[in-house]
Amino acid sequence: MVKKNCCVFISGTGTNLKALIHSSRNYNFPINIKLVISNRRNSTGLMYAKKYSIPYTVLDTKNNLHEKRIFNEFKEKKIDLICLAGYMKILSKNFINNFNGNIINIHPSLLPKYKGTNTFKRIMKNQEKITGCTVHFVNDKLDSGKVILNKTFEINSKDNEISLKRKTQVCEYQAYSRAIVKLYMY
Ligand code: GRF
Repeated sequence: MVKKNCCVFISGTGTNLKALIHSSRNYNFPINIKLVISNRRNSTGLMYAKKYSIPYTVLDTKNNLHEKRIFNEFKEKKIDLICLAGYMKILSKNFINNFNGNIINIHPSLLPKYKGTNTFKRIMKNQEKITGCTVHFVNDKLDSGKVILNKTFEINSKDNEISLKRKTQVCEYQAYSRAIVKLYMY
């Protein structure tokens, strides 16, 4: 199998990055992670790039040329797929159009419900009975691209924002890899 070359964008703890790295080490998984990009120098997720010897770049998003810099790195590394994994910056319309159809994201709710931030707080407040996560294509509207896959679980009476977050993240680690398999192997 010729694996696709992937770049993962992070901002924070990078636990989804870690799960994707583990999947990608499987011979049958359709992507190789060739690059990790963070917009924060101190994002703890960068330790996974270091640990697994994956090249990484820290972006200075205040610099107008930062997207041009990404394009150059992508060209050099022949990147086919971009996985956003907790990347907390909005990508420009131009950037999204250039990679049209090849940027995917994971979101901690069952989209189209609870787009944006503070998802767990809003889910608890609305006393939802079911939640989960969604892997979707990225377009120029926030959390609105076509859904690739979602994974659900039931919320019980003992759940709170913290337990919901923990359970959602466990869902995410499986869902992100499954979505990539669905994209490239079916
Ligand atoms: C995940 O919960 C994801 O749904 C959201 O940001 C979080 C990132 O967590 N977009 P991590 O950095 O992968 O640990």
